[in-house]
Amino acid sequence: MPAQVVVGTQFGDEGKGKIVDRLADRSDVVARFNGGANAGHTVVVGGERFAFRLLPSGAIRGRQVAIGNGVVVDPDQLLSEISLLEKRGIEVKLWLSDRAHVVLPYHKVLDGAERALKGRLSSGSTKRGIGPCYGDKVMRTGIRVGDLLDKSLLAEKIETYFPLKERLLKSYGLDVGTTKEELLEWCLNSGSRLSRYVVDTSLLLNKALDQGKNVLLEGAQGTHLDIDHGLYPYGTSSNPTAGGACTGTGIPPTKIDQVIGVVKAYTSRVGEGPFPTEIHGDLADWIREKGGEYGTVTRRPRRCGWLDLVMVKYSVRVNGVSSLAMTKMDVLGGLRKVKVCIAYEFQGDRLEEFPSNPRILAECRPILEELPGWEDLPPAKWIETAKAGYESIPKNARSYIEYVEEYTGVPVSIVSLGADREATIERT
Ligand code: GDP
Ligand code: IMO
Ligand code: MG
Repeated sequence: MPAQVVVGTQFGDEGKGKIVDRLADRSDVVARFNGGANAGHTVVVGGERFAFRLLPSGAIRGRQVAIGNGVVVDPDQLLSEISLLEKRGIEVKLWLSDRAHVVLPYHKVLDGAERALKGRLSSGSTKRGIGPCYGDKVMRTGIRVGDLLDKSLLAEKIETYFPLKERLLKSYGLDVGTTKEELLEWCLNSGSRLSRYVVDTSLLLNKALDQGKNVLLEGAQGTHLDIDHGLYPYGTSSNPTAGGACTGTGIPPTKIDQVIGVVKAYTSRVGEGPFPTEIHGDLADWIREKGGEYGTVTRRPRRCGWLDLVMVKYSVRVNGVSSLAMTKMDVLGGLRKVKVCIAYEFQGDRLEEFPSNPRILAECRPILEELPGWEDLPPAKWIETAKAGYESIPKNARSYIEYVEEYTGVPVSIVSLGADREATIERT
């Protein structure tokens, strides 16, 4: 069977976790391919909340899950997520890539220091050590999960790399926080606790596909945070886009047949950088409170704005999105009018395509189309609506969905009307 990929089409937090949980009911394996504990994916099942940073959201259904080579792994965070799920009676069947890189304690110190030093060019990182860890991977000064199980290679790496970090941090007026010996000890200890999960994930995922199994690939973050296709330098350090699903798992593009782009009915952003459709004031506060728009990792209030279709159309292109999953339609319920951005105005010209230069984007004025709003319903009513099917969604909400389909040229195959697993409609 070919694999399916789920990606975010905006700035992250589109509701990928919820959609992956839903699609996991018919998947045999669910694998994460990028990012690290900067991600926060929340799934609600019958009122019970599950929060994931590293484990794929398919873990709740007891599926085989995998953490691919493209992920950066914080061992303590991963082990604590596994033990939390096990305490709730869910067995975690995990394949952890030996090629995934390890987030070390000094990566977090560097992340915090560099975030402060970057000034206006800072993306406002989650301080989880993501950038410095991917930086070491690319500089070939990283430690991989497999290294944690090879004491002599590990010791040689720490002996060589530790002084480099020590010197760098000293130049920032900071201390590395551990000794070389303590770091070696921490790595060996992490390795022994993780060893039972460590495998060649690419081999096992490809074998699963060859055996006709369904494999679902879960992206973290979103297209506009992508290191290549996102709003550089205001994004993250990995590839949350569909191509990243191949490099981040070792599954070739020829084995992927569907890309599901998750799009929130409005836009949110946690962190810095230009955001043309951002709303300020009472309306933004209303959306933030109603949508629970606070960072799951950092608890920072998320900036909120209208749906930006220029951004989404760009994501459809760079990911080859085959269908969209639209989330949080319930949150906009109760507004008399809703707006969507269909183009930008830049220095008197109309821009139809998303610019690469953040200074240009910062000067773009959104050209907004106003659409009629729909009623507000309590969560239980949205669940009932979901059970009754697409035609029972308020008419203006359907028109909104159909407007997005028309603009982007791809069908909205999933509509989400609430956080709960049940508040979901799949259109066939
Ligand atoms: P992710 O990072 O893309 O997985 O998204 P997050 O989990 O960080 O943020 C999405 C939040 O919205 C979570 O708290 C979800 O439980 C919640 N959520 C997902 N879909 C819906 C929806 O359709 N309606 C509402 N009201 N909440 C939703
Ligand atoms: P999920 O998977 C929203 C943002 C941070 C910051 C920038 C870089 O839940 O959608 P990093 O710590 O990666 O170096 O931060 O990216 N960011 C996210 N925003 N959702 C996420 O993940 C994010 N992961 C990182 O706020 O602006
Ligand atoms: Mg999130």
